[in-house]
Amino acid sequence: MESNKNSAAIVEPVYRFKHLLGIEGLERSDIEKLLDLSDRYVEANRLADKKHSTLRGRTLINLFFENSTSTSTSFELAGTRLGGAVINMSVGTSSIKKGETLIDTAMTLNAMHPDVLVVRHADSGSVHLLAEKVNCSVINAGDGSHEHPTQALLDALAIRRRINRELDGLKVVICGDIAHSRVARSNILLLGKMGATVRVVGPPTLLPMGLGTFGVEVFHDMESGLKDADIIMMLRLQTERMAGNFVPSIREYYQLYGLDYNKLKFAKPNALIMHPGPMNRGVEIDSELADDIDRSLIREQVEMGVAVRMACLEALVSRQMISAGDH
Ligand code: CP
Repeated sequence: MESNKNSAAIVEPVYRFKHLLGIEGLERSDIEKLLDLSDRYVEANRLADKKHSTLRGRTLINLFFENSTSTSTSFELAGTRLGGAVINMSVGTSSIKKGETLIDTAMTLNAMHPDVLVVRHADSGSVHLLAEKVNCSVINAGDGSHEHPTQALLDALAIRRRINRELDGLKVVICGDIAHSRVARSNILLLGKMGATVRVVGPPTLLPMGLGTFGVEVFHDMESGLKDADIIMMLRLQTERMAGNFVPSIREYYQLYGLDYNKLKFAKPNALIMHPGPMNRGVEIDSELADDIDRSLIREQVEMGVAVRMACLEALVSRQMISAGDH
């Protein structure tokens, strides 16, 4: 990884854009370059010395208006391992609680000259709006039910590494609460660009209108939906974005749509299961199956998260250096 420790020598940008706001707008080659760089960080993160200097002198601010375990922690680790100064802004104790708007918060932070802002917000489109107001690069860490691009990238990396090839021709089934899921949307976009076939399975109340425009096949029962699946991505019921009840009962939902060993038999014999977390065991997924290392990629997904976020940070900062002629 010595070359990563001297990224000032890079003159060809890995990534073309100032921000990473979504998978929409990226081409397959953009995604492949980010995954290839991420691969290098997976190996580097398994070494005892995980420190790099790619972000030396740079400042990363994490601004999370919604709760997070894996995304916020992995961005913090990613920035720290790359040698940057990382500030985790505590929204709960900030002036947002005194009525400061998102844009005013962004302008205040922008005046302190950060290099990258990582933002999660409950409103779809809010991170795009914020990105228009600041000078630094912005990474979307999840905006409402719109996009979560680094999650889709880490999911693709986890699949690619396990199957040891590109994703072309894979049948990927995304199950559960598609309507409220930014993970589903980013994954549908990315998987399609990478040559996979995508299906969604869920009750009609949890499937948004217009899914056909995304080129996905829609199913309402697990038996037909999981047929010939290579990969099954399970999603949590995102109650924080629901107004009212979308399923009659959790018990019935688990019986119909919860993934267990019996329903897994509908898929290909070696089908792999995934979950972006946080999981609700016994609601959308059987606890034993979630922990089955032969069938489950869930732990790898978390590991890939740090590598992907290191790659994204390097890509954005390298582009800044090239744009500034500082290389
Ligand atoms: N996958 C994901 O976004 O998890 P967190 O909400 O814990 O960040």
